[in-house]
Amino acid sequence: MKVALIGLGSVGRGAAEMIAKKDLGLTITGIADSKSGLINNAGIDIVSVLATKKKTGSCGTPGVTAADVVAKAEYDALIEVTPTNALSGEPATGYIRAALNRKKHVVTSNKGPVALYYKELKELARKNGVEFRYEATVAGAIPIMHVLEHGLAGNEILAIYGVLNGTCNFILTRMAHEGLTYEQALLEARELGYAEADPTYDVQGIDAAIKLVILANTIWGNGVKLDAVDRTGIDLLTADALQLADEQGCTIRLIAEAIPRKNLLRVSPRILEKNHPLVTQGTLNALTLETDMAKEITLIGRGAGSVETASAIIGDLLFIRDCHVQRP
Ligand code: HSE
Repeated sequence: MKVALIGLGSVGRGAAEMIAKKDLGLTITGIADSKSGLINNAGIDIVSVLATKKKTGSCGTPGVTAADVVAKAEYDALIEVTPTNALSGEPATGYIRAALNRKKHVVTSNKGPVALYYKELKELARKNGVEFRYEATVAGAIPIMHVLEHGLAGNEILAIYGVLNGTCNFILTRMAHEGLTYEQALLEARELGYAEADPTYDVQGIDAAIKLVILANTIWGNGVKLDAVDRTGIDLLTADALQLADEQGCTIRLIAEAIPRKNLLRVSPRILEKNHPLVTQGTLNALTLETDMAKEITLIGRGAGSVETASAIIGDLLFIRDCHVQRP
């Protein structure tokens, strides 16, 4: 299957490296970062492109843009992982629309387009007979969308509870276990590269709320928007509050929850017993699904990281290949 890749940040590099390293039957025919790009419909030598990018900062010809790759390369599926603002959804949404209109499948890790334009983009994909997939947008390596859409397909999802932001989880873990202040822990999280470019998105619960909107739309197709989420972050939480919880055998986690029968969509710090399944350490994400048939299922895994997120992207690509494109 031929793929085009736009965006060579941590997620794009991870995906490119895995495609080069593993024999997945995926050929990259177009590539672009924010400054340069390359189109070679016979296939691009990714290892040498990544080496050149590392040495010179460029991945191809200056002036060849991501939009050129989307519009002109020959490919079956677009990997859209450009640096995009989660609240505006741009520039990712424009690239996604352009690719879908060309009848190309799209796989994205950008949350903005899915949270803002879920119905429109799904409908555009359906109309063009292609897939629009976004496994990487929520909970990184945990294949939550596949579980919801396929594994639990016949179930009614009654509620979902999740630790969806690794940065907040890391901060809360470090404050509780190492006695770090909020500021020290946030600094560490930023140094590790987990935090969003603007970490207020993490600590004010915006990132978790956007992910909750994506989950709610996927599960219930209810077209909810970010402003429907009742949101409190961890930015005002003190070390004393964590200490107090600790003395009672508990701890605090930022929990995102959606319970349709209660009309509830909320992100807020919650006190949980230390052995609660959603009390994960460090940057680990976790989700508990309550369903009518399978009952309760909890998934735990890495919520971010270059190769971890590439796992979700490649899972989406191979799903598309198996459903739509003949195997090599
Ligand atoms: N900033 C996000 C987090 C990255 O900390 O979970 C993954 O979406």
